[in-house]
Amino acid sequence: MGPLNLGRYQVWPPVVLAPMAGITNVGFRRLCREQGGGIYVCEMITTRALVERNPKTLRMIAFGDDEQPRSLQLYGTDPEITAAAVRIVVERNLADHIDLNFGCPVPKVTRRGGGAALPWRRRLFARLVRAAVDAASPAGVPVTVKMRKGIDDDHLTYVEAGLAAQDAGVAAVALHGRTAAQRYSGTADWDAIASLKQALEVPVLGNGDIWEADDALRMVAHTGVDGVVIGRGCLGRPWLFADLEAAFNGRPERRLPSLGEVAVTMRRHAELLVDQFVAGARNPARGERDGCTDFRKHVAWYLKGFPVGGELRRSLAMIESLAQLDDLLGKLDPAEPFPTAALGQPRGRTNSPGKVFLPDGWLANRDDDAVPEGAELDDSGG
Ligand SMILES: Cc1cc2nc3c(=O)[nH]c(=O)nc-3n(C[C@H](O)[C@H](O)[C@H](O)COP(=O)(O)O)c2cc1C
Repeated sequence: MGPLNLGRYQVWPPVVLAPMAGITNVGFRRLCREQGGGIYVCEMITTRALVERNPKTLRMIAFGDDEQPRSLQLYGTDPEITAAAVRIVVERNLADHIDLNFGCPVPKVTRRGGGAALPWRRRLFARLVRAAVDAASPAGVPVTVKMRKGIDDDHLTYVEAGLAAQDAGVAAVALHGRTAAQRYSGTADWDAIASLKQALEVPVLGNGDIWEADDALRMVAHTGVDGVVIGRGCLGRPWLFADLEAAFNGRPERRLPSLGEVAVTMRRHAELLVDQFVAGARNPARGERDGCTDFRKHVAWYLKGFPVGGELRRSLAMIESLAQLDDLLGKLDPAEPFPTAALGQPRGRTNSPGKVFLPDGWLANRDDDAVPEGAELDDSGG
């Protein structure tokens, strides 16, 4: 297969790090980029917070000097605010690619008609995507959408929404093969991804349940997609991007790092987060602590399957400084081999299906294109 064409960018290997709020910050993206090629999407930024120049949001839009293309995900529900946010990105040259989030299943978002609820309102969806594309295209910035299959099995939207997004001029469409009701439960429906690929002319990206590099090749073979989007599979395993690069280049090698090698990666990850927080902080000592705090959530993912005692795990998940981290990592047995039983297993969120909360009358009025009340989140990430 050839590179992924994303507007004026050609991406090889055709791999995208999925935007993950609270995870895919500049430090984590650098850690992943050091492993292999692809596009590495920033944490979600809300359009309202950007338009209001919220300082925390502006700090979250941070890219490495060598990050190319700089990829930013926006969340919005109001076409005008979204267009204004995209104009800010373009005029201030904040990013080279914009992805629009229509996949978020959390009740706080869908209850107000945002995220995964929005494509159901097809006219509003089309208006919103078009507003973003029209604001971005004069600068040659490609816009993509990322969505789920629909609200639930009785309210599927992905083919119609994909066609509408294509009509609006997007450079590609990414589909997570689950409904909002499924959240992160069950398995992703790769047949749905294949149907979308059949229906569209623009590149289609497949997302859901790629745990190993060979799963990515399987997804491509099964669906014909132009690229793959990797979320949870890389949590605590940034070397997955090296495996993906090898796999797409037809090479057989796959990393099985020993615990010592994992410890080196953990140290690198923590150091990059500290660098990121120091750069964003007035007080460097606080930056180190904040970076270490941000690192804590990754500890269990790195150690998954390794025989490491509960006390050491708990201490690692409470670090406040790099010195403390070094001390604790020194207690791990570096020769411990990679726990192959953990390969191919789900990691990160795997919750149960749940009711999708929607605004009153949401399902009954598909063609109502009024902007839902209060659905613009004020803060980014989270
Ligand atoms: C912690 C976490 C945060 C996420 N945040 C976002 C987000 O901000 N925007 C988005 O479009 N998807 C978000 N997602 C969904 C992922 O991008 C991806 O679609 C999903 O995890 C399925 O892919 P996977 O099976 O490879 O994990 C998030 C997922 C996780 C686990």
